[in-house]
Amino acid sequence: MHSQMRIFRKINSPQESSFMNRRPVVTIDGPAGAGKSTISKLLASRLSFFYLDTGALYRAFAYRLKCEGWDGTEQRIADICRKMKVSLKNEAGRYRVLVDGEDVSEKIRTEEIGLLASKISAIPLLRKHLLPVQREMAAVGGVVAEGRDMGTVVFPQAEIKFFLDASVGERANRRYLELVEKGQPVILQDIEDDLVRRDRQDRERPIAPLAVPPDAVVIDSSDKSVSQVVEIMTAVIEKFYPLAKHFSG
Ligand code: DC
Repeated sequence: MHSQMRIFRKINSPQESSFMNRRPVVTIDGPAGAGKSTISKLLASRLSFFYLDTGALYRAFAYRLKCEGWDGTEQRIADICRKMKVSLKNEAGRYRVLVDGEDVSEKIRTEEIGLLASKISAIPLLRKHLLPVQREMAAVGGVVAEGRDMGTVVFPQAEIKFFLDASVGERANRRYLELVEKGQPVILQDIEDDLVRRDRQDRERPIAPLAVPPDAVVIDSSDKSVSQVVEIMTAVIEKFYPLAKHFSG
């Protein structure tokens, strides 16, 4: 377990960080189904920060590939990178994903798209394309960035890093309930198998694998409620930067 001491190293020298000039970047990495999305949205809204859902970017590409029929070549991905414009909107508590102006927010949330997103996210060309896109979205600070490589690759200088984990069984159960609520026909064992497969894909890929950033605060959410996790994160952020409580005002 990574101790909070590491983050306190930075707290002791805030003048070295960009804190003084702009609002911080908070990163939340972790495996699928650990509660990152729910928690990141709540934290972002509490701090009045932008919620940067980087998984949605990979899902948007997966969605487009699926619609157009992917022949498995990188050439097709390069074509789409050139043509496709993806944007994320935070509007009055609504988080929308637009692909060339089309609202795909719901369509990208299926297990099929999740698995395809995980598969294509191992392709260096796509990751290279999305690197500046993500950084630009966080350039002014005041962002909660959620993904797999936020604290390790995309925002290594982020002021505050979290790694949110949970057991596979708990993650599968949560995802199952979430999908059932949305009316999607799902089987718990299938969800767990998909999660195990995605975990393997995300952790074992050679480029930007899912990993715990060395200076992250690790939180295991298996036995914690959403609000407990948000409280823990808020406490860490306020300790790191006491003025954080004023962000939301
Ligand atoms: O968080 P998510 O389930 O929406 O992400 C979908 C897939 O996208 C995930 O399995 C791996 C990939 N991904 C990634 O490689 N890097 C990120 N920063 C975010 C997501």
